[in-house]
Amino acid sequence: MAVYLLGIDVGTSGSKAILIDAAGAIKASATTEYPLYTPQPLWAEQNPSDWWAATVSSIKRVLQEEGVRPADVAGVGLTGQMHGLVLLDAQGEVLRPCIMWNDQRTAAQCAAITEKVGLENVLRLTGNPILPGFTAPKIVWVRENEPQVYANVAKALLPKDYVRYRLTGGFFGEVSDASGTSMFDVGRRQWSDEMLQALEVPRAWLPEVTESPEVSARISAGAAAETGRLEGTPVVGGGGDQAAQAVGTGIVAEGVVSATLGTSGVVFAASDSYRVEPQGRLHAFCHAVPGMWHLMGVMLSAAGSFRWYRDTLGEVERAQEAQTGRDAYDILTEAAAEVAPGCEGLLFLPYLTGERTPYPDPNARGVFFGLTLRHGKAHMTRAVLEGVSYGLLDSLELMRALGLSIEQVRASGGGARSPLWRQILADVFDTEIVTVNVTEGAAYGAALLAGVGAGIYADVLSACEAALRLTGRTEPGPAVSTYADYYPRYRALYPALAPEFAAIAEVVSKHL
Ligand code: XUL
Repeated sequence: MAVYLLGIDVGTSGSKAILIDAAGAIKASATTEYPLYTPQPLWAEQNPSDWWAATVSSIKRVLQEEGVRPADVAGVGLTGQMHGLVLLDAQGEVLRPCIMWNDQRTAAQCAAITEKVGLENVLRLTGNPILPGFTAPKIVWVRENEPQVYANVAKALLPKDYVRYRLTGGFFGEVSDASGTSMFDVGRRQWSDEMLQALEVPRAWLPEVTESPEVSARISAGAAAETGRLEGTPVVGGGGDQAAQAVGTGIVAEGVVSATLGTSGVVFAASDSYRVEPQGRLHAFCHAVPGMWHLMGVMLSAAGSFRWYRDTLGEVERAQEAQTGRDAYDILTEAAAEVAPGCEGLLFLPYLTGERTPYPDPNARGVFFGLTLRHGKAHMTRAVLEGVSYGLLDSLELMRALGLSIEQVRASGGGARSPLWRQILADVFDTEIVTVNVTEGAAYGAALLAGVGAGIYADVLSACEAALRLTGRTEPGPAVSTYADYYPRYRALYPALAPEFAAIAEVVSKHL
């Protein structure tokens, strides 16, 4: 009898369902998109009913795959966009659209909570500063701005936990996603009563939390009727999208770190112990692996910087791509590979959309620094790849300073397809860079967690061992010492320029 595992990712652009077998092979995958609303500048909202409709549609589509019988699905794992606030009334009805992870309306509430509790206490209680994307300041915002909504609140859930409620009728969360709410004691893996008291948020609003691979509920008869005969199938805690993605790429042991070169760049490290960066510059969250934590740094424009560069300065290469079918990125990197590491002193600061780690500064801007007559386009291309790599190294260095040893970096995302970029990463990090066979992201990790809960795998590490293998390896080369000389020069630029970033932001807004 075949055994399948279902992973569901309630993402920012759509809900993805993926069905894998016990060896980790992908049997079916389906994504159903939904809109994102920005009713006011800085706002980002979605309708939880859209997530539900999309999830039902994606589940139905994967179950239709030939040879799949719903009875063979041994477990379901949920993951999704983190930090979002879903408010329900006592009847379980949604009170207002979800205020999402990328919504920036709560700067004033963050400042007020931090002022009231004190930054040191906030870090002691929750492991992280209060950030506008996080959940607690959104609850305070609703209290202050929508009292009629607030008066009816009975439950506050994260996005994937709302979908769990629709699937099972149960109110449950899990530790990795709860870590990003500013209401969770990340060290103790439980809600922080002290923080809830300070926020005046009733404990009863929050769901019970489990560890990620634990079964918390089962698919209800009502949901089974909608999704296709899964009644009684166990649903595990699952994880926030970053933690679940880490499971899906095998970042489940200390020493193994991932660097994701998507539009943004994420450096994610698993940790055996609870470590907090003293200034809160890294996110410190519970991992989806019981007894483990993770540290995370987020760079806002990683492969996004290279995309901007191709779109604005790569006109010739894009025309060549249209003519010959050769990828414009490949044409650009081929020329950049001819330039010596360090670009003869040309540095690029990748702060095109401000920055998050290590400088939480919305005013930070992109910079080419050190141009001379000798520099041409290939130097500039290489400088972009090197600058993004230095920016990721900033997060790795914060992790190393906390005593984390980094033995291997697993690279993923669009940028990691470039052999030149992987070599630059290996040289800049002075660490081996590897790639893995699976690029399905968080939904895949959620399916593996479901397999642990269903008893198919002994634990998360065994699940990863069953499903994942290394596909490529890049060793650090002779350029390591060159980059070791240039990196401090890169590091010195942001502090030198920060006052000017702030000053020019004022001038720009004056003349808008
Ligand atoms: C994590 C984060 C994003 C969102 C959306 O801190 O902000 O990963 O979960 O993907």
